[in-house]
Amino acid sequence: MKLTVLTLAACAAIVLPAAAADVTYRKDVAPMIKKYCAECHSSSADAPSMAEFNLDQEKYKKAKVGPLTDTFEHLLQLVNGKSMGAFMRRLDDGTSLYSGGKPGNMYKYLGETDAERATNLTVLKAWVGDGGWNLNRMAARGDVPAITKEQLDKLILKY
Ligand code: HEC
Repeated sequence: MKLTVLTLAACAAIVLPAAAADVTYRKDVAPMIKKYCAECHSSSADAPSMAEFNLDQEKYKKAKVGPLTDTFEHLLQLVNGKSMGAFMRRLDDGTSLYSGGKPGNMYKYLGETDAERATNLTVLKAWVGDGGWNLNRMAARGDVPAITKEQLDKLILKY
């Protein structure tokens, strides 16, 4: 019996390489963000903090830099902080509810090929947590309702 459970667990690990419990910011997400986003979202690119970005978004868009994503704390601003859901909205592949069938405008940076982007998105979704990948904001906008407590409870975001 014990053997069967272990075997099942091993199989599950193979089928689900990006099980939420295994995905961490330090091991999986930080290296990915460094590789694909640092060019425009790091201090070496002169990227602003979230608060600074919000003071003058037009200026930073012209300079082709986005808010800092180079630390756990900075990144969380875009996940469940001041810019709730921005991470999901910008990186979605166009299949989530409220995406309107269009990928977010940062999805293209998530890899060079469709396969690479899809794999990376799977890892990011697992990091966020099963049921936690939602495009909603803190407040309702247009047809998109505000994020709910139930949705927020799904977030894992392991450091
Ligand atoms: C070539 C430069 C460039 C790259 C590479 C890039 N971004 Fe961006 N990003 C920007 C710019 C410029 C903005 C601000 C303009 C806009 O909102 O589209 C932005 C905006 C964003 C926003 C919205 C911020 C907000 O508060 O609304 C998020 C989230 C984001 N990027 C995430 C990422 C992630 C994650 C990656 C890596 C997978 C990435 N970006 C790669 C240039 C880039």
